[in-house]
Amino acid sequence: MQRSSTKSWLIKSIRTSMWTFLVRPVGVLCLSSVFLVMTQLERSFSKKINNVPLTPYHMKNRKVGLKAEDSKFTLEGIPFQILSGTIHYFRVPREYWKNSLQKLQACGFNTVTIYIPWNLHEPRRDLFDFAHNLDLRAFLTMASEVGLWVILSPGPYIGSDLDLGGLPSWLLSDPNMKLRTTYKGFTKAVNHYFNTLIPKIESLQYKEGGPIIAVQVENEYGAYHLDKHYLPYLKKALQIRGIKELLMTADAGQDLRNGHLKNVLATLHMKNIKKNTYETLSSIQGRHPILMMLYTAKSLDSWGIVRNTLDSHVIMENVREMFHLNFSLNLYVFHGGTNFGFMGGAMSLDYYLPMVTSYDYGGLLTEDGDYTPEYFNFQDFFHSVLELPRIILPVSKLKTVYNTLTVTHYISLWNMLPYLGKFIRSTKPLSMETLPINNGSGQSFGYILYETVITSGGFLTSKNHVQDRGQVYLNEKYLGVLDHAKDQLFIPDNQDHKDYMTLSILVENQGRLASGLNINTERKGLTGDIYLNNSPLRKFKIYSLEMKPSLLKKGNTPKIWKPILYPPPTPAFFHVTLRVSGSPKDTFIRLKNWTKGVVFINGRNLGRYWNKGPQETLYLPGSWLEPGQNEIILFEEFKPGFQIEFRSTPFLGY
Ligand SMILES: *[C@@H]1O[C@H](CO)[C@@H](O)[C@H](O)[C@H]1NC(C)=O
Ligand SMILES: *[C@@H]1O[C@H](CO)[C@@H](O)[C@H](O)[C@H]1NC(C)=O
Ligand SMILES: *[C@@H]1O[C@H](CO)[C@@H](O)[C@H](O)[C@H]1NC(C)=O
Repeated sequence: MQRSSTKSWLIKSIRTSMWTFLVRPVGVLCLSSVFLVMTQLERSFSKKINNVPLTPYHMKNRKVGLKAEDSKFTLEGIPFQILSGTIHYFRVPREYWKNSLQKLQACGFNTVTIYIPWNLHEPRRDLFDFAHNLDLRAFLTMASEVGLWVILSPGPYIGSDLDLGGLPSWLLSDPNMKLRTTYKGFTKAVNHYFNTLIPKIESLQYKEGGPIIAVQVENEYGAYHLDKHYLPYLKKALQIRGIKELLMTADAGQDLRNGHLKNVLATLHMKNIKKNTYETLSSIQGRHPILMMLYTAKSLDSWGIVRNTLDSHVIMENVREMFHLNFSLNLYVFHGGTNFGFMGGAMSLDYYLPMVTSYDYGGLLTEDGDYTPEYFNFQDFFHSVLELPRIILPVSKLKTVYNTLTVTHYISLWNMLPYLGKFIRSTKPLSMETLPINNGSGQSFGYILYETVITSGGFLTSKNHVQDRGQVYLNEKYLGVLDHAKDQLFIPDNQDHKDYMTLSILVENQGRLASGLNINTERKGLTGDIYLNNSPLRKFKIYSLEMKPSLLKKGNTPKIWKPILYPPPTPAFFHVTLRVSGSPKDTFIRLKNWTKGVVFINGRNLGRYWNKGPQETLYLPGSWLEPGQNEIILFEEFKPGFQIEFRSTPFLGY
């Protein structure tokens, strides 16, 4: 492992050799001269700060909680510097939560910040999921057991690079929806969600003996700010349901004025430290402790874009400076994890950018929960400035390389359609959100197939109604793609000398925007009319392809698979069995020669792959595998490879 900071390496070596070679009776004089050397190396910090006793199991007498008064945070009256890291519990397999939390604590952090994704917890209106990987209470309890405090961001909007920033897409079945405002259709849904969510976490607040010391109201509302009544409404919505810990808002520097709420602590989201930001902050709330609530070291990666890199020197410089200025901080992210399934969102700069499957994000732990060089930089730094016990580092999971597999069976999408349940007939195209399925909640994720009959060729024009990427077929023969960049396609005349031809458009939702003012107009699938020679197409058969576990459940559909033909028609599902001897271990799937699609492991959606890069391997947690036979299914949209390789290390791009 290569250390990026020579200085911290030097400090660590001195410290290590100090313990190795200095026997105890050496005497005060000698020891203090060693400390002098260390102090000169770590010039900036002459005194270590002691914040050891302030952990959930030491704190017995709980009356006051976290306070932001004057220039310091205090916890139960004792000065307290919040040193927090974000872990996305929904992006990390539950089996590995504890390891991740223990590593956070061993690094020197005292708090974990978590964001709660409403869209995953209420996948359909009034259908809640707080089980398995979404067992929020279990995660919070575990954090407390590990000795960490919790800052909770219950949203309803959390951003976090999720599809629609973590808001459920079924909200958009209302054509007039105004997300993140006091629009009745929105607040009604929020109230209903909070009525379920808040009772689950209320008893885990600090004053009830739990780890939650602060709660964030919304997220970066200053950048959106469509309704000045919205934040006060949310504050009240939290408080009347029993939230009584310190409340805070979090905004980037330029949005502080709009995002600030009276009597709620304003905190910062930023990449680096700017003087005028403090001036704005103190002009808003006077003398208050500063919490860098979202210190982002890196940024996310998008398909087709060169990978973002980290400059660990800049990060450590920023963290040192924050310590100088007595800031509290939350590092976004400590452990990002994976955009399993279709959970990843998109961003819009000048053009639409869907994000990759890995949410490595340059966290201190890798996607699979392993240590990075930056982890040790942080640990060295924290241990140099704080009085912290040396903790034995939690071990990481073992990785393995399974034997290369050759896919043996397939079924084309066209032959799969009868197994996908009923299609919907509609004169005009319907978007995913307005599809009359899932008891009125529409379709949130995945693909959707539109079929209609045409009698001649010509120019097919999408008018930007294909969201986000549509593969077009004529009589099951591939013609081309319509997407954000391309809105016209030539359809040849009938060559089969039949009276009619079937035109099919397979549209993929590549992720709704995670932020910005345009979230209200986000709809997926065909969001309006598609024209053939200037007349709108009519009379569609619409297949919802959500790719839910029930469809591809292990052993559910053995009869449908056929031995592979060369070349196999696509789009198609490909099937292969992975045999695991002994207990399953983590691995990385490499899909060389495959083009674009989704991988399912024992019926669970692992996530998307795309040869556009930069990501080339998919993380497969050992906890998704079973000893013995495991079923791997790939949905390949375009051109399959035939082999599935495994790696012991990820490759996320250059
Ligand atoms: C940080 O806190 C220390 C200890 O309370 C104090 O001496 C120092 O002046 C503070 N620094 C700043 C920049 O506020
Ligand atoms: C469908 O939705 C209605 C109204 O939202 C609700 O009363 C009903 O229980 C739901 N049915 C199912 C099967 O979820
Ligand atoms: C990928 O395709 C190339 C060229 O056809 C072939 O030589 C190679 O073996 C393939 N690799 C895998 C892993 O399928």
